Amino acid sequence: MSRPSVRRALRRAGAEPPPRPPRGAGPRNLGRIPPPKIFLPGETEDAGVVNFSAVFGRVAPVEMEVGVGKGRFLLAAAAAHRDRNWFGLEIEPEYAQIVRIKAERAGLSNLRIERIDGRAFVLRRLSPGCLAGLHVYFPDPWPKKRHHKRRLVDPAWAEAAAHALAPASLLRVASDHEEYFGVIDDVLSNEPLLEKLIPDEAGDWSTGTSYELKFLKTGRPIYKAVFRRRVSGSAG
Ligand SMILES: C[S@@+](CC[C@H](N)C(=O)[O-])C[C@H]1O[C@@H](n2cnc3c(N)ncnc32)[C@H](O)[C@@H]1O
Repeated sequence: MSRPSVRRALRRAGAEPPPRPPRGAGPRNLGRIPPPKIFLPGETEDAGVVNFSAVFGRVAPVEMEVGVGKGRFLLAAAAAHRDRNWFGLEIEPEYAQIVRIKAERAGLSNLRIERIDGRAFVLRRLSPGCLAGLHVYFPDPWPKKRHHKRRLVDPAWAEAAAHALAPASLLRVASDHEEYFGVIDDVLSNEPLLEKLIPDEAGDWSTGTSYELKFLKTGRPIYKAVFRRRVSGSAG
């Protein structure tokens, strides 16, 4: 990806953007770009579930964000809660690079960001109860019906995410897209291991992401929900 805004963000973060793709290497050729991996650097491709204590070099509760974008939420959360490990997944390599540079600059050794597909990763790499929190903020809505299959959240993803959450831990979701949010809300509400918090329990909260700030400025409605992993029910 080499959108001008991303190239500018990379420069601001102190990194040199990749060379511009040759003419003709546009979206039609995207199929030639290898899919993002779900394995961490140093892992072999038959690695099983992730050992987060080894990844972070310490034992601490792990919170994960899928689709971090420029990392505004993840960076702030990691700075505010240094007793927790924060793991970010981002499919766009430039965004992952920007967040990595900012985390290093801020001395956030409790933040790890990887260029990884957050759908496949949740489906295949998480052990039962390994997450103390999961955050999904403004996932790409893929509004055209023929693209719905590219969406992050569906019943299989919801089931895998619920199994990965420790009992009583929270899954927070936000979107500006009414129809996709409705789908996410239905899917997560129908997942037996999750219970939706009523507004009073969920409290007034904000993601603090770039997208939320942008939408707040334009007065666009933002939909949010919090789900809790049920304490009863097997995490295995
Ligand atoms: C609409 S942006 C929102 C970014 C950020 N959460 C925010 O609110 O500012 C969606 C982000 O999810 C990333 N993304 C899309 N599909 C993904 C996937 N399967 N795994 C990880 N990241 C993904 C996109 O590259 C993009 O950065």
